[in-house]
Amino acid sequence: MKSYPYSKQHIDKRDVEAVVEKLKGDIITGGLTSSQFENQFSKYCGAKYSVSCSNGTAALHLVSMALNISEKDVVIVPTITFAATAHAFKICNAKIILCDVNPNTGLVGTKELKECIKNNNHLKPTILCAVHLNGQLCDVEKISKICVEKKIKLIFDASHALAANVNNYGSSLTDFAECSTFSFHPVKTITTIEGGMVTTNKRGIYDKLIKARENGIERNSENFIEPYNAVDIKGNINPWYYEVQEVGLNYRLNDISCALGISQLKKIYKLQRKRKIIWDIYDVLFSEQENIKPIEKIENQIHGMHLYPIFINFEKINITRSELISKLREHNIITQVHYIPLHLHPQYIDKESKQTFKNSEKYYSKCLSIPLFPSMSSKDAKYVAEKILKLIR
Ligand SMILES: Cc1ncc(COP(=O)(O)O)c(C=O)c1O
Repeated sequence: MKSYPYSKQHIDKRDVEAVVEKLKGDIITGGLTSSQFENQFSKYCGAKYSVSCSNGTAALHLVSMALNISEKDVVIVPTITFAATAHAFKICNAKIILCDVNPNTGLVGTKELKECIKNNNHLKPTILCAVHLNGQLCDVEKISKICVEKKIKLIFDASHALAANVNNYGSSLTDFAECSTFSFHPVKTITTIEGGMVTTNKRGIYDKLIKARENGIERNSENFIEPYNAVDIKGNINPWYYEVQEVGLNYRLNDISCALGISQLKKIYKLQRKRKIIWDIYDVLFSEQENIKPIEKIENQIHGMHLYPIFINFEKINITRSELISKLREHNIITQVHYIPLHLHPQYIDKESKQTFKNSEKYYSKCLSIPLFPSMSSKDAKYVAEKILKLIR
């Protein structure tokens, strides 16, 4: 029986050929394929610099290291996101402040951000890591204006939004932020199996990201801090020499994954066209329903179409979300809830905080991500919608 996960990778013959060719070569990690992928990625998403890495969590951690995040930092993170968005800063000892989101889009809006800053003014927030949830972009211009006024550095977790665009900026949006991060997990827009990327427009941050990704190692003799160790008594450069200048990790993305990434990036427009067909069918089938509707779309931007969440008014129907998910599984339709708000997880519950997250809880109580992936046919989309509608009526 056919299976319908909420998302999955799309691998074709060319992807397989690219991987096999790279596997047959001499260099399978640490070669030049990563910089080729990075250059093509920068062009695609409108960034000056891109740094590939082992996954989207590593991308966020690299940003945290490159920006020297420490116990002096106070980082605002939306409560509706994947844990990695907050963990990356917490692991560098920053204080995390959670922010409510717009109840209709799940994004941090200007209203929620201003309120969060006001409520936490005494803590002096230093960073905002905003998330382009589901593939929909935050209002980057307005959010960045608030951040500039409040001297808060802005980072975008763009794990869901590689194919999104607004005003032709591309999805990097690093004119507005220090860095953006991406994930290439198989459920995302393109995949490298596991994989991630950080983009930035700032050369200084780029250099730090590279170093943090490579165990803090510097190999360029021009940048050595203790150059006398780099030469022999005749002044020849010691060819094995390198300097460990910072604390870093091995977060490299191997050449096989990068070859797959290059191949996937070539067909991103095709993948998005396929997603759009399913998207439009769902929009029509769910639009006129009483207790179920597609999530609100923001006008004048190209949606990244990573996830297709529907809002279901469970208070008005005779089936719980848990029952609905189980019944759909009987038809091999695998749905998911994105996300359990962070403030409900033991790691992030703050019993002392007086902050409430009413919008996020409303969003969480209704949302369900339904199958959306490029190899779905129109017939598949109608099948999924029909089963959902039948169970909800
Ligand atoms: C919003 C968000 N941030 C970060 C990540 C982490 O990415 P990865 O799974 O590649 O580590 C994910 C992945 O699910 C995500 O959805």
